Amino acid sequence: MQEHFRFAGFMGKRVHLGVSGSIAAFKALEILRLLQSADLTVSATLTESAQKFVTGLSFEALGASPVYTGMFERLGGGQESPFGHLEPGELCDAMLIAPASATTMARLAFGLGDDMLSCQALAFPGPKIVVPAMNPRMWNAPATQRNWLMLKDLGYICIEPDSGLVACKEEGKGRFPEYEEILPVVLRALSPQDLAGKKVLVTLGPTREQWDAVRFWSNPSSGTMGACMAMAAWLRGAEVTVVAGPTSMKFHSGMGVVPVQNARQMYEACHDVWADTDIACCTAAVADYRPILHGEGKFKKEGSQEGLTVRFETNPDILKSLGESKREGQKLIGFAAETSDCREEAQRKLARKNLDLIACNRIDQDGSGFGVPTNQVFVLDNEGRREQWPPLRKTEVAWRLWDHLLLA
Ligand code: CTP
Repeated sequence: MQEHFRFAGFMGKRVHLGVSGSIAAFKALEILRLLQSADLTVSATLTESAQKFVTGLSFEALGASPVYTGMFERLGGGQESPFGHLEPGELCDAMLIAPASATTMARLAFGLGDDMLSCQALAFPGPKIVVPAMNPRMWNAPATQRNWLMLKDLGYICIEPDSGLVACKEEGKGRFPEYEEILPVVLRALSPQDLAGKKVLVTLGPTREQWDAVRFWSNPSSGTMGACMAMAAWLRGAEVTVVAGPTSMKFHSGMGVVPVQNARQMYEACHDVWADTDIACCTAAVADYRPILHGEGKFKKEGSQEGLTVRFETNPDILKSLGESKREGQKLIGFAAETSDCREEAQRKLARKNLDLIACNRIDQDGSGFGVPTNQVFVLDNEGRREQWPPLRKTEVAWRLWDHLLLA
């Protein structure tokens, strides 16, 4: 799983994981581990059918506690109680039912309480997330579709199944979604929604400036820091648009993504949305110069002179142009990657680009910069607050930067 999905720090929060009868039930074990890696405490309930695919023991062995395997059966986590059906609702902050079979969906939609999981769901007052997985014909059946609408009406947070080849070798909708689709939805339900109602724009990745049909000028930015900023904003309730240079980053379907290749396209894409944006955060490693295009086809070395001289022209400074058209209430975050003193550069760029906040890091030091999961930033804002942060995971840097901006 890519770095920007690895948000931790949900210590003290609890999730109850409900697993029902689907061939995808084994995937709930990985979900359990992912939730734990976010520092969440997890308990679980397996329906009777789920236990034909996976055992309660597996969940217990991986640290889920308690694990309910029937109306009055539980593994680990203290005394058996006649009120097990009420416990998740009293102890947990969110409930995730993944996978949800057609039967479990029907039980939840109609409010049945004929097994432990459906009773627990009925008695659960907090956010409930449901992730169906089943054969495409079962998914498309009118009764299932009706139940799906009913679940949405009842306030369940509903994650659509994927399309593709399912276990029974049929093609269609019904596949268990990617973990990267599920985990952020759970974390969002547990996060403070202090960016709710805000429109956030994030630029990320490198730009790729074409010189001829096969060659380009670029840099090694992976887009990780920007993906962390975007994800953190989304988890905290923002409506997020990402303008992404060429990158292998995966983005959650809840975000808008505008893929671009070069700086001029990135500039256009940003200005298309800037007027309607509350906060822009420019993490992209934009190429300041682009080679003057050689021509239509591929440059051939035969017949050319020894060596090669390439001429460049200047690209627009996207962040600076946003700063120039910033209106009252809009905020702008910049980044800077340096090989010399961060303090001076941060100060200079904050003023020159009309920023509210800048995070500056050295790219010539361990644990900081391109392609590593951590970053060590010097942070400066337009009120003169300056802080040198220790090396932190990029997810943590992102979370703290939003804290910093919101406190300002
Ligand atoms: N930036 C931008 N468009 C550019 C260059 C930079 O939007 N053409 C943004 C980056 O996304 C980053 C900030 O400006 O948020 C600083 O980028 P950096 O390359 O460090 O600064 P430059 O202004 O290009 O200065 P220099 O390369 O001389 O250090």
